[in-house]
Amino acid sequence: MSHTSEPPVERVTIPVLQRWKHERRRIVMTTAYDAVTARIAEAVVDIILVGDSVGNVCLGFEDTLPVSMAMMKHHLEAVARTKPRALLVADMPFLSFHLGVKETIRNAGDFVRRGAAAVKLEGGANRVEMVRALVDCEIPVMGHLGLTPQSVNVMGGFKVQGQRTEAALRLLDDAHSLQEAGCFALVLEGIPAELGARATESLTIPTIGIGAGPDCSGQVLVFHDVLGLTEGRRPRFVRAYAEGFKLLQETLSRWAADVRNGTFPTPQESYRLPKGLEDQLSNWTRSNKA
Ligand code: KIV
Repeated sequence: MSHTSEPPVERVTIPVLQRWKHERRRIVMTTAYDAVTARIAEAVVDIILVGDSVGNVCLGFEDTLPVSMAMMKHHLEAVARTKPRALLVADMPFLSFHLGVKETIRNAGDFVRRGAAAVKLEGGANRVEMVRALVDCEIPVMGHLGLTPQSVNVMGGFKVQGQRTEAALRLLDDAHSLQEAGCFALVLEGIPAELGARATESLTIPTIGIGAGPDCSGQVLVFHDVLGLTEGRRPRFVRAYAEGFKLLQETLSRWAADVRNGTFPTPQESYRLPKGLEDQLSNWTRSNKA
């Protein structure tokens, strides 16, 4: 693969990510929701997230709120079967880590039993109790701050966060509370670049930015966004490296046209009867003509 400046060579683990933070080696993370996307991604990226974005990206929901544990388990299992060398992180969906420590541990444990090496959950100081409980059970946790999609109703839409002094300071406090509670990394989403930089330099754990500027320890984008597979207006932080939707649709329509004009399949794309059997079949057809 000629496009990677630092090809991913090792099996990615949490200690490896900590080392990369100190070496200032940038971390690359994307999402995968099934075996195909996982196989494409795992040779390229360092972390694969089975994100609850599966809800809007693959399942046709408007946001991530309808995504359930059952849906997440189904998609995680498909990704985990590919045994990726990238670190496999599963996203805790809405209400799977809000109803008490026991239920949070049970849900995160279900993900680990299905192959996740870690879980991710949204929220700041209000999630510290759950993070501590999970870390205490040897379940590594990635935090997620800033524009947290599960808070869409509280935020009044998908809006950039941390643009006022109080909110910016709260985000930094939250980041440090999550680090102290034992998070091994933080996703920072939809915040000013300066705030992303400030959080990254003040934390010992890596930060993975999405719309949080270039100075985070790494970057994450949704797989379908990188490939241009999603329709509609793209947020400012998305850079699509292909017009995948158009490309795939054009490719599919070439096949559909070949079917319609009779040029697919050719004899080379068809199976033949063994010699002799064809004669027997024509005898049968002759005597069974309607
Ligand atoms: O669900 C998701 O895809 C995410 C990433 C965008 C960070 O949370």
